[in-house]
Parts: sequence; C-alpha cells; structure tokens
Amino acid sequence: MATTGDNARTALVDSLNGLLADFFALYVKTKNFHWHVAGPNFRDLHLLFDEHATEIFALTDIVAERVRKNDGDTLTSIGAIGAKTRIADNDTRGLDAMTMVRELHADNEALVEAIREVKSAATQAGDNATEGMADDWTDQAQQRVWFLGQILK
Ligand SMILES: [Fe+2]
Repeated sequence: MATTGDNARTALVDSLNGLLADFFALYVKTKNFHWHVAGPNFRDLHLLFDEHATEIFALTDIVAERVRKNDGDTLTSIGAIGAKTRIADNDTRGLDAMTMVRELHADNEALVEAIREVKSAATQAGDNATEGMADDWTDQAQQRVWFLGQILK
C-alpha cells in the first residue's frame, strides 16, 4: 500500500517532469525567436534570446536527474515533452519582434509559477536538494522576466 511519503514523491516527480517539459519547450521556442527575430533591435534581441535559451537548456539535465535521484522515470522523447508541457508553441512566420518579447515574458512568468509548484512538492516530499535548487531556478527565471519586461516599457 502506498504511504503518504510515496504519494508526495510521486507528486514531486510529476511536477519535476512538467517543469522539464516546460524548459525543453521554452528552449526551442526561444531559439525559434533567436533565429527569426527581425527589425531595428535585431542584434540585441537575437543575442538576448540566445543567452536565455542557453540558460534554460542548462537546467534540463539537472531537473531530469533530480527525477532519477527521486527514483522516478523522466521524459523520453519529443513526444513526451509535447504531451507534458504547458508552454504553447508559436509557429507563426514573420512574427513581430515585440510580440516575441511579450510571449517570452509571459512564458517565463509561467515558469516562475511552475518552479513554485516544484518547490512546494519538494517540501512535501522532504527533498531538500530540489527545494534549495528551485530558488536558483526562480532567480534565473525572474531575471529573464525582468530583462524582457524592461524591453516592453
Ligand atoms: Fe545562434
């Protein structure tokens, strides 16, 4: 029979896998905008989007391995990422640069929320390492929200 501890761990694994899917999806979306951005702020945005994509991608392995260290199975494929992520694709061609900034701003704000859920699940499961790391992931996401938000002013 499953104990309360098992349930908390299952919830944490599910939450971490959701965050992992979001990181992968936002990585690809940010690269998409890095490749396709155009307009008078091309250089700044092209470089900023690349910095953000690199930062996000660096967390994917860390999050997946937190799942494994909790004895859970993590994501296995692009299909698994697509099924789990809450970040919406945007395949629109010729998207306006400020629309890209606005979308990434909202997506990174959503990440801050997703990380908050992971942290709370980690607390419930007694996973101190994930709980501590989540603060760093939050600061990084808030930094991206700040940079993107300042551009929108
Ligand atoms: Fe590039």
